[in-house]
Amino acid sequence: MSCEEAAAQQQPEQAEEKTDDPPIEEPLSELAKGGEISPAEEPAEAVVANPEKAPVASEEDVFTYRALVLTGYGGYEKVKLQMKKGKPSIKSGEVLVRVKACGLNFAELLGRQGLYELLPSPPVTLGMECSGVIEALGEDVTSRKVGDRVLVLSRHGLWQEVVAVPASQTFIMPESMSFEEAAALPINYLTAYMMLFEMANVRAGQSILIHMAAGGVGIAATQLCQTLEGVTVFGTASASKHETISQGGVTHPVDYRTRDYAEEIRKISPKGLDVVLDPLGGSDTHKAFSLLKPMGTLIVFGAANCVTGQKKNLLAMAKTWYNQFTINTLRLMHANKAVCGFHLGYLGDDELIFKTMNTLLELYIQGKIKPRIDSTYHFEQVGDAMRRMHERNNIGKVILLPEPKAEKEVENSEEKAKSSPEQGEMDDKKEEEVKKEESSQEGVKSEEN
Ligand SMILES: NC(=O)c1ccc[n+]([C@@H]2O[C@H](COP(=O)([O-])OP(=O)(O)OC[C@H]3O[C@@H](n4cnc5c(N)ncnc54)[C@H](OP(=O)(O)O)[C@@H]3O)[C@@H](O)[C@H]2O)c1
Repeated sequence: MSCEEAAAQQQPEQAEEKTDDPPIEEPLSELAKGGEISPAEEPAEAVVANPEKAPVASEEDVFTYRALVLTGYGGYEKVKLQMKKGKPSIKSGEVLVRVKACGLNFAELLGRQGLYELLPSPPVTLGMECSGVIEALGEDVTSRKVGDRVLVLSRHGLWQEVVAVPASQTFIMPESMSFEEAAALPINYLTAYMMLFEMANVRAGQSILIHMAAGGVGIAATQLCQTLEGVTVFGTASASKHETISQGGVTHPVDYRTRDYAEEIRKISPKGLDVVLDPLGGSDTHKAFSLLKPMGTLIVFGAANCVTGQKKNLLAMAKTWYNQFTINTLRLMHANKAVCGFHLGYLGDDELIFKTMNTLLELYIQGKIKPRIDSTYHFEQVGDAMRRMHERNNIGKVILLPEPKAEKEVENSEEKAKSSPEQGEMDDKKEEEVKKEESSQEGVKSEEN
């Protein structure tokens, strides 16, 4: 996704709420206290004046479930835990899944800021991957049965306790796989696998640069490189994560925050690299292209440089766009290099996705890949989960659990909150610092270009 496209698709900060399916919304702070969410919009006493004539509500009607809904564009508070009414109806070919764990992706951070064009405008339930157990089958579903443990892929809408999805978007989990691992696998590993093996055609003995190497896609790509002999992996990550990513297979961890990573890589590999995966955009794409050796392949698959914190940063977006890499075909021919783009959301090839998912599940069974879970958060802690990624603290996948947080945990986190300064103030201060750091770093980058 380019910043240009993202900016063009932006919606107003406060999108109007759709009115067709009004949810019952509770502020996160209330839910975090562990109290039950009341699903009732009408007071209970108003219902039964004449009990004999009172309509008997079906189980489907009184059914309620929790969902994480993006209510507008902006900071963490825009994702709200809401109680929805009525069981999701299952159409022919669909299954009803009781969700056990959900994956958080960088795309949801972009989506919250209005920068992910594939996400419908708010209010919309977030969530592109989850795992769970099949509870009911729609007509014509023969490939699945009630009780199957499945992982699920969708464009959005999976961050809720129960979901109705086409059976074709579910995959049977291997027996040894946990729900957390299953929720961590689809997007990161599909993306990494397709870039490495469908597009770049990475082979034994080659060299590759993986940015965000300690993140979800980064760890997946590193593990998949280990399925080949002698691939040299350069991985950029914050210094505190280097030990972990080295153990995971990164040959040369590079601290991009305090050094010029391109210079560091050239010192080790003066002839350049075979493949660079670029999820950053802007001036980093220039560096990526210059790091390639002849016959090398650059794959652009993100624009993380547009994001500097929880709130949208127009300056960072403008800088990323201004530094966007462009090349004409003649120069490309003279350089003997390939430049590709990859976006899973736009792929639209169900057969390829199905085939690749099955390959990945087989690799998991063989013990060749294993999602690394960084942390798990309950739905009511979604802001903390997002903060963990924004503040670059995760090593591996951040997981969300629909199950409500136990009261004891709630008490502990309230105690913690009391003994630390106001989180909002801290966030704002941190964002200021990040913006200052970004400006000085961009200054260095412009001088380099
Ligand atoms: N095109 C596609 O189909 C596709 C699919 C999935 C993901 N992606 C892209 O792949 C990238 C990684 O996604 P992911 O879901 O696996 O996330 P992730 O890598 O887990 O993201 C968080 C980590 O990235 C690093 N990072 C670098 N720049 C950052 C920034 N501006 N803000 C926050 N963290 C930053 C941080 O680690 P360090 O500090 O250690 O660097 C952070 O801990 C994203 O750009 C995403 O958009 C694209």
